[in-house]
Amino acid sequence: MKFFIDTANVDEIRECWEMGIIAGVTTNPSLIAKEGRDYRKTLKEIAGIVDGPISGEVRASSVKAEDMISEGREIAGLHENMVVKIPMTAEGLKAVKQLSSEGIRTNVTLIFSAAQALLAARAGASYVSPFLGRLDDIATDGILLVEDIMAIFEGYPEIRTEVICASVRHPMHVVECAKTGADIATVPYKVLVQMMKHPLTEIGIEKFRKDYEAVFGK
Ligand code: G3P
Repeated sequence: MKFFIDTANVDEIRECWEMGIIAGVTTNPSLIAKEGRDYRKTLKEIAGIVDGPISGEVRASSVKAEDMISEGREIAGLHENMVVKIPMTAEGLKAVKQLSSEGIRTNVTLIFSAAQALLAARAGASYVSPFLGRLDDIATDGILLVEDIMAIFEGYPEIRTEVICASVRHPMHVVECAKTGADIATVPYKVLVQMMKHPLTEIGIEKFRKDYEAVFGK
């Protein structure tokens, strides 16, 4: 399973890219708004840091397929690595079909059922993004959704759509996603940092330091 980082913060993106742990980036209107910077400029800056797929979402106010299509073309034109993120609606599926026929990659977002994922795949989506955490929030197991989608896609080898586990809230989500064989998890910076840490690693480093310095000094 590959990692994307789920943020529009360029400092976080740069740091994780330098560590070699991420293969791409996902953003959404909430994450872009949090940074308070110009949307397109931010996406271009991200594309200058990360050499991998970068999802930029159509404006939250775009509900008609024709608007999503023209905006999608604009986003795709920013950089060759751009992927157009489109919400899972009937109009969104029309936009996915058109954009994919033009060779523009799409990521269908706000997926909450296997049926939605299958429809998005059939419309030609390059990626589908099931939202685990938001299902967990309403007492529904998000991992079961990822397992279902993986099982369905595996049964139909002609489906090339990759599964991006999204709305990932903690390291155990990541481990559970990896067990399903999901292609990608898009993970917030905070969770990537949590994944790096283990108290025994910190205790071990401190013991090595003390033992070494006791004999050889600083
Ligand atoms: O990738 C989707 C993600 O940004 C949503 O996460 O935590 O707002 O449900 P969350």
